[in-house]
Amino acid sequence: MEKRAFRHFLKVSDLEASDIREIFDMTEHVRKNPEHFENRLSRKTVCLLFEKSSTRTRLSFEAGVHQMGGDTVFLGGDSQLARGETIEDTARVMSGYLDMVIIRTFGHDRIERFASRATIPVINGLTDGHHPCQALSDFSFIGKELGAVQGIRMAYVGDGNNMAHSLMEAAALLGVHLVVATPPGYAPDKEILRWSSEKAKKTGGSVTWMDDPMEAARGASVLYTDVWTSMGQEAESSIREQAFSGFQINREMLSLAASDAIVLHCLPAYRGKEVTEEVFEGPRSKVFAQAENRLHLQKALMLFCNRKG
Ligand code: CP
Ligand code: NVA
Repeated sequence: MEKRAFRHFLKVSDLEASDIREIFDMTEHVRKNPEHFENRLSRKTVCLLFEKSSTRTRLSFEAGVHQMGGDTVFLGGDSQLARGETIEDTARVMSGYLDMVIIRTFGHDRIERFASRATIPVINGLTDGHHPCQALSDFSFIGKELGAVQGIRMAYVGDGNNMAHSLMEAAALLGVHLVVATPPGYAPDKEILRWSSEKAKKTGGSVTWMDDPMEAARGASVLYTDVWTSMGQEAESSIREQAFSGFQINREMLSLAASDAIVLHCLPAYRGKEVTEEVFEGPRSKVFAQAENRLHLQKALMLFCNRKG
């Protein structure tokens, strides 16, 4: 079956800064004029192949596809993948039926293997290694909230895994000064840190790691956190709660940030763990507007992936 030129989106560093700017501009068009995009996915079928739970990613993609005139199919844990059909064979079969696939899975290698055999666009809806749709959406949201992204100071406080990795890659491409603070045993991937800090030197930003969360927060305009125990790590939750106990966004940490700092969280959140109830529900927290932005950004992202060669 002949397919049009397309792009996969597996991690933020698949993009150039100019691609991100194009997606952000399109996001604003989609947000302001959704009626102009009502037929852009007509007669397209988009599958969500999800091997982990989701509320925001599933719903924002499904709603976005429907708002642009397309159809969605949700495939959870009961496909033949669960019985051992290979991810490569699954990609070849799905490419014959569908126009795009959003995948949420465990190891990042699984989505890379799928994409290597797919002849339709593949978008990463979260792997253990990356959460690129969330990070792109968050920087488009920050741009709207703060009026700019380049040159801002941001602190990510928490686990150095998928969320941190995607924020690091995006910060590097966009010229953000990002400090990632994690306990020593939970630092981000060394290669992603190296790539991000090198790239940031060329864009006027910086991406650094430290194990002091209060120092990271000092003067930041954005404080960002994620859960201490990600999906698939539930057996480690009590040991993680001990390791991360000093990494909570609370009143003291917020007092060290810029006086007009905003607090972000990809959600779902565990109040009293990575963020206090007081900060989560307080005036600096923008987490629900942040979540809503996923819809607009992902509509723009699907249009980008669908047509680019
Ligand atoms: N932030 C995010 O991806 O949320 P879900 O796990 O609910 O999709
Ligand atoms: N780091 C979290 C993000 C959830 C959106 C997880 O992988 O479970």
